[in-house]
Amino acid sequence: MKTLLLHDTEQDIKTAGEILRNGGLVGIPTETVYGLAANALDGRAVAEIFKAKGRPMDNPLIVHIADIEDIARFSLVSEFPEKARLLAEKFWSGPLTIILPKGSSIPDEVSAGLDTVAIRFPSHPLAQKIIKSAGVPLAAPSANLSGSPSPTTAAHVMNDMDGRINAVVDGGECSVGLESTVLTLASDPPRLLRPGGITAEQLEAVIGKIAIDDAVLNKLRDGEKAASPGMKYKHYAPKARVIMLRGSDSGYINYVNNHKIEAAAALCYDEDMKSLTLKAFSLGKRGDYSSQAHRLFSSLRAIDRDESVKLVYARCPSPKGVGMAVYNRLIRAAGFEVIDLEKL
Ligand code: TXA
Ligand code: MG
Repeated sequence: MKTLLLHDTEQDIKTAGEILRNGGLVGIPTETVYGLAANALDGRAVAEIFKAKGRPMDNPLIVHIADIEDIARFSLVSEFPEKARLLAEKFWSGPLTIILPKGSSIPDEVSAGLDTVAIRFPSHPLAQKIIKSAGVPLAAPSANLSGSPSPTTAAHVMNDMDGRINAVVDGGECSVGLESTVLTLASDPPRLLRPGGITAEQLEAVIGKIAIDDAVLNKLRDGEKAASPGMKYKHYAPKARVIMLRGSDSGYINYVNNHKIEAAAALCYDEDMKSLTLKAFSLGKRGDYSSQAHRLFSSLRAIDRDESVKLVYARCPSPKGVGMAVYNRLIRAAGFEVIDLEKL
């Protein structure tokens, strides 16, 4: 299949909408990461997403809307509680996904057989235009091959999906760089399943106490069931071995310089680079969680492209605010391998 590269023009948005309405697959930009979209109401189209990504069928998808009225218009949920209304008012459109009891129109392929559905209203203007042009809500996971870092540019999507999908719409670099926050309102108290650009503190300020799912910061034990099926897979895994080093600035710099081997590289804060004597990739600015979120996936992809790198010494981000999302993604890329420098 030839994959069309489309742009932010009236004609191309119309073309993307037609492909989606006809059951095709289109890579679309959002403010978080690029999505691999299909008509959410068409189970057969949605099944093609799983094939293109190599994604296990038991991992449910997020349904994207471009207007809050779409939820009722398309019977996407069976209940829209007060807390959902408050969250939608405050954070939509934006990088928050809310899980609710699913409505009658949701095919099993979207919800992976669960009785809930994940809903998101992206803020990216081009995402909204494409959803409106399609005239239907769009189911979309991140547009990477299953197990690779999520794509934050159209070139990343092409790299993984060229020849596997009908089109990619280029909307430039994603501003957040990490996937949306996922919160379920199907449990009491509401539970954070995946940290993202909207922090736990911001959510609590609007709806009160929320629980943080164990799998956000810790490894699931063998046999433990994941509340969010996506959490159980080793995600965002680069080809090189990644080790996270927890400790101070000087502790990190000393350890890395003393354990230099030819195939090793650093994934570090920009401020560390001048003190390191080996190849280094940026994990954004120290203490600036948004810049870390923005850099993480594109640096993991750059590491993947560099055949010479077999081992990565990564800094351990602080799990505060948006840093919790950076920590959550990076510790999965490291397969939970962490060295505590203070304890050596
Ligand atoms: O920012 C994002 O959310 C991006 C863009 C494209 O919108 N999408 C994205 O989708 O990250 P995906 O499929 O890569 O991640 C969706 C996560 C998975 O961990 C999945 O298991 C979880 O949300 N999820 C979806 N529906 C769920 C449900 N009904 N119950 C529990 N978890 C659910
Ligand atoms: Mg994903």
